[in-house]
Amino acid sequence: MNTRITSLLNIVSPIVQGGLAHLAYAELAAAVSEAGGLGQITAMSLPSPDALRTEIQKVRSLTAKPVGVNFAIGQHDRPFEEMLDVAIEEGIAVISITGGNPEPLIRRTDGHDMKRLVLVSTVRQAQKAEAAGADAVMAVGQEGGGHLGRDDIGTLVLVPRVVDSVSIPVLASGGIGDGRGFLAALALGAEGVEMGTRFIATKECLHAHAAYKQALIQATEHDTTVIKRSLGTPARVINTKGSAYISELEKQGVGYEGLQEYISGRNNLRFIYEGDAEHGFGWAGQVVGLIQDVPSVQELFDRIMGDVNAFQANMQKIFQGKQQRCC
Ligand SMILES: Cc1cc2nc3c(=O)[nH]c(=O)nc-3n(C[C@H](O)[C@H](O)[C@H](O)COP(=O)(O)O)c2cc1C
Repeated sequence: MNTRITSLLNIVSPIVQGGLAHLAYAELAAAVSEAGGLGQITAMSLPSPDALRTEIQKVRSLTAKPVGVNFAIGQHDRPFEEMLDVAIEEGIAVISITGGNPEPLIRRTDGHDMKRLVLVSTVRQAQKAEAAGADAVMAVGQEGGGHLGRDDIGTLVLVPRVVDSVSIPVLASGGIGDGRGFLAALALGAEGVEMGTRFIATKECLHAHAAYKQALIQATEHDTTVIKRSLGTPARVINTKGSAYISELEKQGVGYEGLQEYISGRNNLRFIYEGDAEHGFGWAGQVVGLIQDVPSVQELFDRIMGDVNAFQANMQKIFQGKQQRCC
């Protein structure tokens, strides 16, 4: 498959593994890149520039294929400029930026052989990213897992709106987990997809606790909630007792002071690393409704790309009136 994204990122299948805070380390990133997509290490999961350098060197020992580094710059306790310098020194081919104005990081990479992807949730953000020099944008709809835009625009509307509003290539994100979603994204004008939640339920996502993966399998599309809306930073979680308590506190209007302890990184790790659903929470998108197993990343890629061929044939039959439903 050739799209502007496969050429830009020098990959075989236009599937990017999204930044996954505290989950996207060398093993997962290498598995995605080895399978033909773009794997990423998440800088915010690492405590220091030196730790990022070690992680990049680890991923290099696992794959020679392109790998990206994700910068969620809303997290102000990391020295992102220095971490970016490490990524440049280590010859990282792609970065992705989310959570704030991407321009300073993009300027810092000017003159280096590095592609810059920016995660956006509105047309305006996409246009600003293009003007700032982004090479592609990933348009994430409100179905997605983790932090979202404030405007609740779904992937099905956001992606074609962004495609029509910028000239750089667009990846669709939010709610994609199988070949049907992948094909739908291409039909919307995207030239690739970004997936987050689906990659947590893979064998190579070593850091996710078995209880988190099991919860993703058991959940239906009804079993996620947006929390932190009262703070202006909405983010989608899988329902746990910990997340229900956060929602309850938000209803009571306790504000940041009252929420701080419960939305902390520590409580995130309690669920995703320790499986403690009583007190902890974990990000996940509505695509949980489509997750039924924990394959290897290679099996997932084979399934998606295999389904693309089968579904294309099925759609042809639908157009000819020989079949009622696609899949
Ligand atoms: C557990 C989790 C952690 C995430 N952490 C980050 C992050 O650190 N940086 C980032 O750019 N996006 C992050 N995201 C968003 C994903 O990269 C991706 O945009 C989103 O998951 C797409 O929606 P999907 O979950 O429906 O595939 C996270 C998502 C999840 C589910």
